[in-house]
Amino acid sequence: MAISDFDLVLFGGTGDLAMRKLLPALYARDRARDLMPSARIICIGRDNKSNEDFLQIVEKNSKPHVSSATLDADVWQRFCGRIQYVSLNAKEPATYQNLVAAMRDDPAISRVFYLATPPTLFSMICDNLSQAGLATANARVVLEKPLGHDLESAKDINKQVGRYFNESQIFRIDHYLGKEAVQNLLALRFGNVLFEPLWRREWISDVQITIAEELGVGGRFDYYDTSGALRDMLQNHLLQLLCIVAMEPPVSNSADSVRDEKLKVLRSLKRFTPSTLAMNVVRGQYRAGHVNGVAVPGYRKEEDANPDSRTETFVAVKAEIDTWRWAGVPFYLRTGKRMADSLAEIVVRFKSVPHSIFAHNSRSTPNCLVIRLQPDEGLHMNLMAKTPGDGMRLKPVELELDFREKFKTPRMEAYERLLLDVLRGQLTLFMRSDELEAAWEWVEPILEHWDQEESDPIPYSAGTWGPAAASALIGRDGLQWREEALPEV
Ligand code: BG6
Repeated sequence: MAISDFDLVLFGGTGDLAMRKLLPALYARDRARDLMPSARIICIGRDNKSNEDFLQIVEKNSKPHVSSATLDADVWQRFCGRIQYVSLNAKEPATYQNLVAAMRDDPAISRVFYLATPPTLFSMICDNLSQAGLATANARVVLEKPLGHDLESAKDINKQVGRYFNESQIFRIDHYLGKEAVQNLLALRFGNVLFEPLWRREWISDVQITIAEELGVGGRFDYYDTSGALRDMLQNHLLQLLCIVAMEPPVSNSADSVRDEKLKVLRSLKRFTPSTLAMNVVRGQYRAGHVNGVAVPGYRKEEDANPDSRTETFVAVKAEIDTWRWAGVPFYLRTGKRMADSLAEIVVRFKSVPHSIFAHNSRSTPNCLVIRLQPDEGLHMNLMAKTPGDGMRLKPVELELDFREKFKTPRMEAYERLLLDVLRGQLTLFMRSDELEAAWEWVEPILEHWDQEESDPIPYSAGTWGPAAASALIGRDGLQWREEALPEV
């Protein structure tokens, strides 16, 4: 779908996200000729500075994040020509007149207000935009995470932003939904007939979803320490992945069809009680260790760290979905910083064959489908096959599909895809207000329990797969995390 002319306003336009992700993503779409020549990008900052000065900052802080293979001097110059810096203090209504003066007043031109700011400013910005007459029917607002700190604050954001914009104008970002591989999961499930009949409790024994990062939180301590792995990753990215794995087939790919089904999954997640929490949730915090052979400090020793911090940098949860399709199938979710590897993957393990007709010396390994989201995008499936020669010896073999190999066409970064969808007004890959609240509602008992708990998160060494308690969590069900089950190489 073509993208009409727009004024895109970036609140937080001088910040890290704008420099590292948003401007490079817009540059990429400009290069691909998705943006009309007259489309404009208005970057908001508090300081008074000239456009020339701001463009120098973009040159220094944003251009290095554009891949050198795609950098073209003429396109970069054209792109910079779209950027206008506007000085505005989000808290001072009078300064919004600077924005009014910079924006075009034409109902045919879409207005997008991208709030890459702390969520505490969302309500005030919307209020001031409205007072300045900018919250018009052709406006859209994009909300960056964190979308709240708990259920109450998330509800408040929905309520406050909802006073000025209706649901079809609000784009709540979860950048995981912009990843090719996540959308490919929708294609895998609903573009093929093969998996759907097996995609249920009768045939699936368990599902693991892991997002592991080698990175620590150096440089982001202030934000991270008030958030932690549960709020930063599990409440949003991991639960969104779980929804896409577990949802019923939507009627269509339209925004509400998909979001209705995701919402049902979130509402069917079994609630934790204080007694089930202890068994099913593990939180950890990294200590000093080695990542890729390099010594790294512990969380409490990071730059500007609070030496007594009790914030978790790792969380593992055994979730259950109370529906006819999934009753009794555990979904193990985990994420952590400073882990042994950087990867995101979904592992769907099928049940064993009900009866083996082969000789006892044939090792039977249950089928397993691994959907890799990062660093490579692909599918691995293991099947049992006969080894050549006499007799009937079976061995697990892997079927591999590497999407980068298969499709040589250039990839889109998550933010490129999401920004295009915002500019097109396509909401399928954005969270609806009820979805956001349902996700917070499910994690709320965990947060409350941790608040009341006296003990610290369990320490784990940087460069490992997290605390041993995470292995025990899955081990109690007679299972292992995928990397624990892989043969030593
Ligand atoms: C962000 C989190 O939402 O996702 C970060 O705030 C995390 O802490 C990042 O590092 C991971 O995203 P990706 O795309 O690098 O896997």
